[in-house]
Amino acid sequence: MRYTNHPRTGASVHNMQSLLLQTLAAVLLLTRPTAAQNGTDNPGTKRGISWIGTKSSATDNSIFASGKTPITWYKSWGAGPIQDQSFTKLDFAPMIHSLENLDQDIRVINGLRYENVLTFNEPDGATSGGGTNIEPEDAAEAWADIVKLREGKNGKKISLPATTGSPNGLEWLQKFNESCWDKYEDTGCEFDFVAAHWYGAFEGLASWLGTLHETYPDKDLWVTEMALPQPATKEEVQGMMNQSLAFLDATDWVARYAWFGAFREDEANDWTGDAVALLDDDGDLTELGALYMGGEARGFEAGDGSGGGSGGSQGSAVSVRACWWSTVLVSVVFVAMF
Ligand SMILES: *[C@@H]1O[C@H](CO)[C@@H](O)[C@H](O)[C@H]1NC(C)=O
Ligand SMILES: *[C@@H]1O[C@H](CO)[C@@H](O)[C@H](O)[C@H]1NC(C)=O
Ligand SMILES: *[C@@H]1O[C@H](CO)[C@@H](O)[C@H](O)[C@H]1NC(C)=O
Repeated sequence: MRYTNHPRTGASVHNMQSLLLQTLAAVLLLTRPTAAQNGTDNPGTKRGISWIGTKSSATDNSIFASGKTPITWYKSWGAGPIQDQSFTKLDFAPMIHSLENLDQDIRVINGLRYENVLTFNEPDGATSGGGTNIEPEDAAEAWADIVKLREGKNGKKISLPATTGSPNGLEWLQKFNESCWDKYEDTGCEFDFVAAHWYGAFEGLASWLGTLHETYPDKDLWVTEMALPQPATKEEVQGMMNQSLAFLDATDWVARYAWFGAFREDEANDWTGDAVALLDDDGDLTELGALYMGGEARGFEAGDGSGGGSGGSQGSAVSVRACWWSTVLVSVVFVAMF
């Protein structure tokens, strides 16, 4: 998904959940989150940002990389990193979004130092809903070029295409696998990790991830988009995030995840609705944003901002600014060194 309205309905999400609910119990049993209390305070290196450029990004970005941020990485749906000083300390995951600029995307990514590459944004989804509508056969055909990214001393790790979290997605992956073995008899389409999207309640998330984990038991899993869309209330979205973070942090086969909603409420995606937004209309953290940033344990509260908006509590605003200055200083020193 990205900017546009999304065609998936609440009903299909619901069907999906009942369909996959049976695996949930098994998953929860298997994973046995031993460090559940760690929850949101100890995400290790897993937590990231699904970054969407808006007219406020330039002023809003830096909060996510400030102070004791738990954010370690981001993706932008693009092949190249964004031009933002504060984000240079975050790891970037380039994406081959579709087949449209395949050769150019591969060239760009080959020239980057970043290690992990995401492939194909919801290839089973219609373009009107932010998907890329790619035939499994065509994706398999392109894999001959994509897989070369893994070669050499600085070979990259590449993801399985990130489908929608739905039976369609699973079917697409099965057809893709068949095409891959048809075309490449000895190897199929090699990949290093699984990328997943989920929009819906926590139980559905755990169930969908469990299905993928059963299908690819020896691969790490990245959740590269997730949220609880409208008509969920803010409280419901917070509850879903809270449960999901605890689960994702404690599950050892989940390597990384990124919430969908690093935008302001008034710039929110139409389909998800504004309750998923990490930032309010001033560019300051919402309650949800503060939760995602690790809350008070890491020095973040609702209302904290990058200094671009009008809100923001004093203490954190100062530390954000101090951090911004040290970033500038480090960058200047860095530039001066070369
Ligand atoms: C939290 O995580 C750390 C590092 O993964 C671990 O050492 C610690 O025991 C965990 N604490 C709890 C309460 O699970
Ligand atoms: C992919 O297809 C191969 C060959 O038919 C099969 O052995 C394998 O189990 C399939 N893998 C998945 C994940 O479906
Ligand atoms: C998150 O869940 C924990 C218990 O698992 C609870 O103590 C805490 O209040 C919850 N926070 C939010 C914002 O829902």
